[in-house]
Amino acid sequence: MRPIIHYRPEANWINDPNGLCQVDGWYHLFYQYNPQGSVWGDMHWGHARSRDMYRWETLPIALIPDAARGEEHCFSGSCCKDETGRPHFFYTSIGAKEAGRDCMDGAQQWHAEPVDSGLTRLIQTEAGALTDAIHGGAHVRDWRDPCVIRYGDGYLMVLGGCLEGRGCILLYTSPDMQTWTYRHVLLQSDKADGVPWECPNLFLLDGMVVAFWSPCATVEYAVGTLDEQLRFHMARKGVLDPGEWQGYYAPQTFRDEQGRTILMGWMPECDGDAAAIRRGWSGVMSLPRLLSIKDDDLHAELLPGWETMADTPVTLALSAGRVSAQAGQHFILRMRCRIAETPLVIRFLTSPSSGEVTELRVSPDGEACLVRDQSTTSAEPCTAPIRRTVMLVEENDVFLCVDGTAVECMVNGRWLSGRVYPQAADAAKMEISSEAADVRLYPIRKA
Ligand code: FRU
Repeated sequence: MRPIIHYRPEANWINDPNGLCQVDGWYHLFYQYNPQGSVWGDMHWGHARSRDMYRWETLPIALIPDAARGEEHCFSGSCCKDETGRPHFFYTSIGAKEAGRDCMDGAQQWHAEPVDSGLTRLIQTEAGALTDAIHGGAHVRDWRDPCVIRYGDGYLMVLGGCLEGRGCILLYTSPDMQTWTYRHVLLQSDKADGVPWECPNLFLLDGMVVAFWSPCATVEYAVGTLDEQLRFHMARKGVLDPGEWQGYYAPQTFRDEQGRTILMGWMPECDGDAAAIRRGWSGVMSLPRLLSIKDDDLHAELLPGWETMADTPVTLALSAGRVSAQAGQHFILRMRCRIAETPLVIRFLTSPSSGEVTELRVSPDGEACLVRDQSTTSAEPCTAPIRRTVMLVEENDVFLCVDGTAVECMVNGRWLSGRVYPQAADAAKMEISSEAADVRLYPIRKA
């Protein structure tokens, strides 16, 4: 039941994608990594590279806490290329509480540089450490996860945190990525619940400015514009993917060498620490999604190139609106269908022996819901339904990737992800009920 096409290193704990970039044709994925085991701790940056963002090769650890400078964890961060194309890395440095460097009150933002064009190691530089003093008296708690982009003839940085009890994204500017000035709060929660906003992203896309953030809950986004004072004017707001702790968190975007804006998130496990320790690993990365603006809103498709991970598709013909197949535990389904009078229902990972089942249901009122019922077989089942609204049209574009325990669905450019833990060996049956559909089933290649 291990995912095949969702990246993870051989062993141990991973979370957030970090420092995503493309250099000399190679895509680089760094990520939060605990070299000691399969629960969170001792944060380093793991490293993998790929030619297509689907087939990854795990490389040695790239960023190691600098103990000599009191660093205990290298938290999340990003990559930004300067005007010569040279990549720079920014991340959050955490040290000991006794040294006033804990993650809640003493985080700093550090800069690291690659030792070579293969980015095999990232080394902390002495320059550019930002401290809370940059806020001129205001104290930002849980200040972390820098995202840096080029903007005009300078650079913008956003950081997440919590200011006066409200989760927020803070904005900074720099002419050269070395000296930074704090500008203002770009976006802020309307709830004073003390919950920080993590992993903010800010980027330009098809003439709009897009921000998203991970508020220790469902990942949200906003589309709008920046005025001359760099104030954000929101045109739309929405849910990027409702998976959160059940399947999708802390995503990051970057622009590749072809100018494509690509999104990748972390798919956390939700079957508990004991299961992670037994397995020896925890967490996978989502599939890469290609972002664009459609009808003034954020739209995400699967990044082209995924077909090379699958075998020749089988076309499934529905009879009286139904079809069933032995789809297995690793497959991709693409369909175009009407969802006007009756819901689209895809039941999969179904076990005839135990009765466990997972279901994607899209109702004519535009609610998409992933229902996971492993209650007959799993000691720690993840059964909370994962829901979101989607925009329906005459002929809907539906994508479903079932890769063992990692499930990702898309309906007309809106996504919903979840982790699922079927236990029975025969949890491999699929049944579709749909008004009218053109269905193709692609088995995922084992090797
Ligand atoms: C999000 C997060 C980040 C932090 C990192 C630590 O999952 O909490 O805010 O930098 O994980 O591993």
